[in-house]
Amino acid sequence: MTIHAPFPRLADPDLLRQQALIGGAWVDADGGATLAVTDPATGATLGSVPDITADQTRAAISAADAALALWRRRPSAERADLLMAWHDLMVAATEDLALILTLEQGKPLAEARAEIAYGASFVRWFAEEARRIEGQIIPAPTADRRILASREPVGVSAIITPWNFPNAMITRKVAPALAAGCTVVIKPSEFTPFSALALGVLALRAGIPAGVINIVTGLPTAIGAELTASATVRKLSFTGSTRVGAMLMGQCAPTVKRLSLELGGNAPFIIFDDADLDAAVDGLIAAKFRNGGQTCVCANRIFVQDGVHDAFVDRLSARVGAMRVGPGTNAASQIGPMINPAALDKIKAHVADALAQGATIAAQAPVPAGQYARPTVLIGATTAMALASEETFGPVAPIFRFTDEDAAIRDANATPFGLAAYFYTRDLSRAFRVAEALEFGMVGLNTGALSMATAPFGGIKQSGMGREGSRHGIEDYVEIKYMCMAGI
Ligand code: SIN
Repeated sequence: MTIHAPFPRLADPDLLRQQALIGGAWVDADGGATLAVTDPATGATLGSVPDITADQTRAAISAADAALALWRRRPSAERADLLMAWHDLMVAATEDLALILTLEQGKPLAEARAEIAYGASFVRWFAEEARRIEGQIIPAPTADRRILASREPVGVSAIITPWNFPNAMITRKVAPALAAGCTVVIKPSEFTPFSALALGVLALRAGIPAGVINIVTGLPTAIGAELTASATVRKLSFTGSTRVGAMLMGQCAPTVKRLSLELGGNAPFIIFDDADLDAAVDGLIAAKFRNGGQTCVCANRIFVQDGVHDAFVDRLSARVGAMRVGPGTNAASQIGPMINPAALDKIKAHVADALAQGATIAAQAPVPAGQYARPTVLIGATTAMALASEETFGPVAPIFRFTDEDAAIRDANATPFGLAAYFYTRDLSRAFRVAEALEFGMVGLNTGALSMATAPFGGIKQSGMGREGSRHGIEDYVEIKYMCMAGI
């Protein structure tokens, strides 16, 4: 297998694993099938991972089940200490983890480093929360009874994660699961498995027992079918598209699993006439161009009020036109390659459709040859365009001009998705009015950056269910058990 030249630069070459992790053992696929992992910046093969079979997926579930009995009984303080040890190893390995992430995913190294810090922050947060999984004594209706409610781990949890945040979307799910006393089988995206496997290496080094974290690599269909059909798996947490989330939900129905689904978004970003325009441009750059526009919370529709429309477009265009696009390993790059050719095709199709329907280009940055999308500002966007109803998942900022507040709110809410929304105003009454009217799980007022371990991340409507991060993040991994004591 050819290994891409930059990998030998890892300070800790052991972090680059090309095997799956089942029951504490590093394994190849039965039959030896592998999947190549490529660098989206060059198309070069970085290495490969096993295409784990259905039988092996069942073995991973059994390993998680076997580990559960002891793990759930460990005092929460011990689970917390092990999570903190994992956190510390992640932080110490930031440079290597970031390089692995950039090579397989494409985002610039600075963003990859930020993702490792973001990912580690969930491990720390839930290590701290592990000690606070408390029960309740509820006043009973009769004198001879006591009512106790305790919170117990859900059990073996399947964790299916996307390619856009190959580190943080794992830790955001696995850390609360482990803190609660659950064990996990992780299925990372086939595009970005190395980041997941490196986390597995560090988890074992931290002393997290064999079988508590299992990682099955490979194509999603067979593995997903096993994870969802298994009666041993009591919970599924998935981040990805609404289409796949709905399909997984159906597959989980016969075994009535707990579900956490973080699905697609179509975030509005509204700039009112009274906004601080410089702050709004900064916020939009953060919300639109992070990870090259490949996040579920990326601003997808930018509504700008008449009075500031032209000034806002001018300031935004100056910034976007000057964006530097190139390989993530190049320190000058602000935007890396798109994850795959299909992603790039969709972005180009959205721009072509918008232009065909009357939009015009206000600014575009140049791109090198390869799998790169041009950072673009489009003006004259309308709700009839494909980019109004679908996530573009790329660095394209379509501007919808509006006149009055009610119309902006109506258009912002006119989507089956309800993940994130953003707006800029300096009017306090409007701030409350608009925040309350927006039908989204997360609302950013005068900010384009919402995500942090301390806050409840999640959507409503077809953007999913459950919350990740914050004290609510642990609730998705516990069941309430009620004990009635009588005859007292
Ligand atoms: C996502 O795109 O799914 C996650 C983004 C974030 O955590 O900020």
